[in-house]
Amino acid sequence: MTMRLAFDVYGTLVDPMGMSDLLKQDAGEEAEAVAALWREKQLEFSFRKGLMKVYEDFGVCTRQALRFAMATHKLALSEQRENELLTAYLSLPAFDDSLPALQALKGQYPLFAFSNGSYPALEKVLGHNGLLEQFEGLVSVDDLKTFKPDPAVYTYARRATGAWDEPLCLVSSNAWDVIGARAAGLLAVWVKRDAAKVFEDWGIEPSAVISSLSELPETLKTL
Ligand code: LAC
Repeated sequence: MTMRLAFDVYGTLVDPMGMSDLLKQDAGEEAEAVAALWREKQLEFSFRKGLMKVYEDFGVCTRQALRFAMATHKLALSEQRENELLTAYLSLPAFDDSLPALQALKGQYPLFAFSNGSYPALEKVLGHNGLLEQFEGLVSVDDLKTFKPDPAVYTYARRATGAWDEPLCLVSSNAWDVIGARAAGLLAVWVKRDAAKVFEDWGIEPSAVISSLSELPETLKTL
């Protein structure tokens, strides 16, 4: 039985904080704070739209969150600049360990990207970084019109990756995603990219914790 791997994308393979550099032009020293609020609100908006059953493409959450973050910091955002920043979001940088880890695992495990992002957005951001071709397939929540951490999405990921009898293991740096996957019965490895990050104590533990994707091949053998 071959375990299947489902990689979260934003924050795990590519870095949303990569927008900070571009935002310096708009926000100067506040660029990092704007990027962090942008990311936080993007997630919150997706969670809320899921709960409210008013699904919209993750890209819409990204746009609305950018507007909110800029307005909160009292920064101007022309339509042209908004479009520029959202286009740049489609080519976010990959973390250094993403491509080598996927290359090391390819052939050993069926690899899937599994994200709240839409298929066109995933194809762009993963394609830009040479990651796309490492995957056997992509699974987007857009198929279900709701967002992680809705349990339906994790159950669907089993079906979409063909993991009927085989275990499906999520790999994610997002604690909320790991908790969502574990609660739905998946294995889930937490990528603790930042040593200061605290896992949320809900009594639902990750299957394993790693600090870099380079540890994944060895860690998977222990699951
Ligand atoms: C993802 C984001 C939301 O699902 O982390 O890729």
